[in-house]
Amino acid sequence: MNGQIYHIPVLLNEALEQLHIKPGKKYIDCTYGGGGHTRAIEAVGGIVLGIDRDPESPARVHANFAHLKEIANRAGFNPVAGILMDLGVSSHQLETAERGFSFNRDAKLDMRMDPATQTVTAADLVNAGSQKELAVLFTKFGEERASRPIAKAIVEARSTGPIVMTDQLAQIILRVRRRGQADRTHPATRVFQALRIAVNDELSALEAALPQAVELLETGGRLVVISFHSLEDRIIKNFMKNKTLITPTKEEVKANPRARSAKMRFFEK
Ligand SMILES: C[S@@+](CC[C@H](N)C(=O)[O-])C[C@H]1O[C@@H](n2cnc3c(N)ncnc32)[C@H](O)[C@@H]1O
Repeated sequence: MNGQIYHIPVLLNEALEQLHIKPGKKYIDCTYGGGGHTRAIEAVGGIVLGIDRDPESPARVHANFAHLKEIANRAGFNPVAGILMDLGVSSHQLETAERGFSFNRDAKLDMRMDPATQTVTAADLVNAGSQKELAVLFTKFGEERASRPIAKAIVEARSTGPIVMTDQLAQIILRVRRRGQADRTHPATRVFQALRIAVNDELSALEAALPQAVELLETGGRLVVISFHSLEDRIIKNFMKNKTLITPTKEEVKANPRARSAKMRFFEK
């Protein structure tokens, strides 16, 4: 990690408050990352099972939370008083060039959260998809307005050789969508996000995990989910009876711009 901070947790106090932590009770952190949320739960006496599918995360269990019930049963965490999901990528994943998640770091276009078990990389998707498939992907998972011209530019560019590096893809996108002065984010943000969601099949994992999480909760137990994408939030909202939405304060967004799109919802069994 080169002494870098692994990840700054978002909505930390809000998540703790909604989890209603009771000392000596068991909790599951499905997205351990660098353990920011877990440490805060432990600090007030909770006993936490930390899960992350990324082998670089110092989590206790390395597995996809799509298999949450099996993981929890094996670890003796059934029933539990609370479950947390803080979806998406960690800063560590984004900032480690070789993982190929970032348009700011030139590296092989990879984006697999678990390279040991996943075989399809972002480069595979970019080089194999038809123009139409790519445009649909960028619209659906990235809400990218210029999906079609970007997909066209990708197909044209790869006719002279495969697109293998993050920078190659970022440059193709920049030729279609020049950075305007008013743009808060890099023009490649949405396409990279769409590829990451597809490579890691993130929405299917969430859909699989939510009902298992509810089964694992004791009566009165709480499930708290932090999401960063409207499709994730739609899945969560449709699943939860209580649709209370909690968003970061202006101060938090100022201190940690990644919090800007964070939304938190909770469910009580
Ligand atoms: C936003 S980070 C979590 C940060 C963490 N709360 C902290 O304070 O450091 C999301 C983490 O979830 C992991 N993750 C994403 N999808 C997953 C899945 N389906 N199963 C297990 N871990 C997953 C990622 O590898 C990443 O480390």
